[in-house]
Amino acid sequence: MKAGVFDSGIGGLTVVKSLLKAKLLEEIIYYGDTARVPYGTKDKSTIISYSLEALEFFKNFDLDILIIACNSVSAYALNEIRENIDIPVVGVIESGIMAVENSISTKDSNILVLGTKATISSNLYNNGLLKNGFKNITSIATPLFVPLVEEGIFEGAILDETMKLYFKDIQNIDVVILGCTHFPLIENKISKYLNSAKTIHSGDAIVKFLLQEYDLKINNNYDTKITFFATSSPDSLKEVAHKWLNI
Ligand code: DGL
Repeated sequence: MKAGVFDSGIGGLTVVKSLLKAKLLEEIIYYGDTARVPYGTKDKSTIISYSLEALEFFKNFDLDILIIACNSVSAYALNEIRENIDIPVVGVIESGIMAVENSISTKDSNILVLGTKATISSNLYNNGLLKNGFKNITSIATPLFVPLVEEGIFEGAILDETMKLYFKDIQNIDVVILGCTHFPLIENKISKYLNSAKTIHSGDAIVKFLLQEYDLKINNNYDTKITFFATSSPDSLKEVAHKWLNI
């Protein structure tokens, strides 16, 4: 099976990492819109128009499935993407909610949703979790984490100060949804800051979702072929990918 993977930048590589580890795919075409990252601070119609441009690029490949490895796009543009292509398109929000449902049995767990402004203001995580019976949900937009990760800042004083700023009123969190595919790079720091709260990761969630909802099978013989494209500085995206993915 050949999949397209789309993100605004390098964050979607965290989803690729999970996909490679799971050995679900024969081929991945990765496209990061590095010229226009971040998406999460932009309005809905801009995110839709950027996403539809990306879709035109993906149409050059004979894909079996398109994976939207960006919560902001999943929040605002999933329907429009689906209306414009004839293959299955999966986003990361539905799978994230399913991951909470499958791994958290106590409905009164304190859940913290982190994401970009776009993802948080869409309320999709919030509404999905409420629908599944979870009662105690706090959502905060943490957009500054995106440029920190893009800059390769995964620890140190700036990250600590940023967490202090965002988490100053946050207490007793059981589960943190990393509702942005950039955030797994600082997963350990976020979890530690929040007293070892359990984390939900878009990449791991989508793997489980694909196994459950689509006809994908683990094949240990797969040595997934992956090609990277970016709208700006493709070489630096490749460099980061090789470092993060060990390929
Ligand atoms: N990786 C993207 C997400 O999951 C967001 C980064 C951005 O703001 O573009 O929402």
